[in-house]
Amino acid sequence: MKDYIVKDEWNIIEEGFDPSLSKISESIFSIGNGRMGQRANFEEKYTGDMLQGSYVAGIYHPDKTRVGWWKNGYPEFSDKVINAANWIGLNIEVNGELLDLNVVKVSEFRRVLNMQEGYLKRSFTAEFDSGALIQVNATRFCSIVDDEVGALRYEIRPLNNNIVVKLGVYIDGDVRNEDANYDERFWKEVAKKDIKSGAVLTLETKRTAFWVTTAMQYEIYIDEQQAELNEQLIEREKFISKESNVKLEKGQSLVIYKYAANLSSENHPKELLESNAIKILESVFKKGFKHLKYEQSEAWANKWKESDILIEGDVAAQQAIRFNIFQLYQTYTGEDARLNIGPKGFTGEKYGGVTYWDTEAYCLPFYLATADQQVARNLLIYRYKHLEKAYENAQALGFSNGAALYPMVTINGTECHNEWEITFEELHRNGAIAYAIFNYVRYTGDNNYLEQYGLEVLIGIARFWSQRVSWSDAKNQYVILGVTGPNEYENNVNNNWYTNTMAVWCMQYTIDTIGLVQQSNANRYSDISIKLNFNLEETGKWNHIIQNMYFPEDKEHGIFLQQDGYMDKEQILVKNLPASERPLNQKWSWDRILRSCFIKQADVLQGIYFFEENYSEDVIRKNYDFYEARTVHESSLSPCVHAILAARLGDEKRAYEFYLRTARLDLDDYNNDTEDGLHITSMAGSWMTVVEGFAGMRVRDGKLHFSPFIPEKWISYAFNIRFRNKIIRFKVTKEEVLVDNNSNEELDIVLKGISIKLAAKGTYKCSLIGKN
Ligand code: BGC
Repeated sequence: MKDYIVKDEWNIIEEGFDPSLSKISESIFSIGNGRMGQRANFEEKYTGDMLQGSYVAGIYHPDKTRVGWWKNGYPEFSDKVINAANWIGLNIEVNGELLDLNVVKVSEFRRVLNMQEGYLKRSFTAEFDSGALIQVNATRFCSIVDDEVGALRYEIRPLNNNIVVKLGVYIDGDVRNEDANYDERFWKEVAKKDIKSGAVLTLETKRTAFWVTTAMQYEIYIDEQQAELNEQLIEREKFISKESNVKLEKGQSLVIYKYAANLSSENHPKELLESNAIKILESVFKKGFKHLKYEQSEAWANKWKESDILIEGDVAAQQAIRFNIFQLYQTYTGEDARLNIGPKGFTGEKYGGVTYWDTEAYCLPFYLATADQQVARNLLIYRYKHLEKAYENAQALGFSNGAALYPMVTINGTECHNEWEITFEELHRNGAIAYAIFNYVRYTGDNNYLEQYGLEVLIGIARFWSQRVSWSDAKNQYVILGVTGPNEYENNVNNNWYTNTMAVWCMQYTIDTIGLVQQSNANRYSDISIKLNFNLEETGKWNHIIQNMYFPEDKEHGIFLQQDGYMDKEQILVKNLPASERPLNQKWSWDRILRSCFIKQADVLQGIYFFEENYSEDVIRKNYDFYEARTVHESSLSPCVHAILAARLGDEKRAYEFYLRTARLDLDDYNNDTEDGLHITSMAGSWMTVVEGFAGMRVRDGKLHFSPFIPEKWISYAFNIRFRNKIIRFKVTKEEVLVDNNSNEELDIVLKGISIKLAAKGTYKCSLIGKN
């Protein structure tokens, strides 16, 4: 745990330069716009410990799989979103000495991520061996107005002497991935082009043949006067730079504006990439930095209008929730259904920038409530587009007749995880994808989605489960053997309660959806039946499974059992684990973890969270008390589920503790792993904790329900919710709950169990404590 980020409501601030924190800050101060993003690497050269990272969404490379012991069915390649050309680069020499914060004496270092306006700022003073002292101010952003554009302003001011600056403004495509399995370089050069005060570099990914063109253009001002420099072209393979020398007198200011366009063959014909990039640069150049930055702040203001959570009375909590929301929107904007949300977004290489069940289980609710419906719909369509591959994936594992098994890890629908216990056994991901369809339709009422896309996916998933179960003569029931549940600290278990629950639920939901589509659009239903060679008779088996599935329970404790045999484990509680032994995944052998009763992340409780309405408060409480005591929360996805259930059970203190743990996970480097990148998908869990936990929001029978409380430390909190083309503002103070209906139509909500009709543009107010 670290505590060096200055608490502020709208900014993430670091003061003073500590190279040992540099990689952590590179992650925390990352910027992005959904199409591209980058770690907070310095513009100038840095020879200290760092992870160079610039990424372009959807551009990946299949890295050849590397495992100790090959198993049939492993994917041959593992796709990863790869480090792309570095467009921010500036090489700066002062009187012949390189500006490198690892070498020069640094003071007054300050770094600010301005979340309100969407830019990163850094300032410092550097003293060189020669005695020259310069001040640097740098600002940059990835535009959310034009998501192919990035811009930076870099100012150098000599403080004590006249200096000569040798300036290199470059694009460097000679980059590598730290996580490359064979240290392979993933890019080859296609072309370079020299343009006035700029350059263009086009690279191609090996194997996948994506082209990415990065174009840059810059302008230089000395004391606000544009300077014409004698630039020299420097080229190497995958590298292009323009160099010039500038003489500066003490106190003068040199400002470099560097603009970049990053275009990929996913969005432009290859033959037009270069010319389109140059065109974009021309228009960006015309707008200029100030205007681009103004547009950026306006665009972020609009995003915040819809998605902000305002917390009064707790700066740490306020900063944290904004950081989480900001990073989520920097990662995924929902404009392109080919893209998705990598667990680390654009902030690191771990998890390869690809898609996990995190999207459906954790991120969907955030986008449903804070963005246009199309954004969440695009997340679902992403999986619909991968349905063919899900059939292939299931076939490769021996399933047939249109059974669909979605991959645990993917970018284009192909499985790219290669640990047997996850690839072959962590099957519950199929359930999360079906649940997301249900969640989306429950929230939006968009039944059309089921007709056009959802039902096909559901049938594939139901077919998979119906083939994956086994009949146990001994139990006279169906069982599901050899799986890994969400708790990855158990592998190859039988009858993981969560997986069995999801499997049965998927089949039932599919049967219900078939009935619905038959009614609402018989023609479409018949088309789907023909296309999938589906016959209603298949549901006979599904029904038999639904009625005869085995669910492990422990009657003595009144709980659902995580899996068969769980109670045979030595039952030790987390509170009795010495702090020195945690996190277990860093301190214990894997074997010891597997034999212990400790739970990595919500498992039974994940199921209870999804289907809360099916369980009585007593059942929820017993399971919560039992499993919370054994959960080590070593996945960032875990605390939010526990927080929401704690809130549901009235344990407000616990809910708040979990909130801080999720929301400040990266800012405070709780798990000692922020340097690898941010936990983007669990950030949606922070949002869920406030909205579903503290405000108790649920969707039932087409209506929003709330049962709020306020954490003790807070004076008030407020957020907007988009629901079925209406926007409501929900505010909770120590005394009151206020709901504004910002739409022109009436809206029915249920507040603390009482139905309320909110007039168009109307406000409703009641006391927080008591019935109304
Ligand atoms: C968790 C998984 C999750 C993955 C990516 C793992 O540590 O156990 O549930 O999908 O991280 O976030």
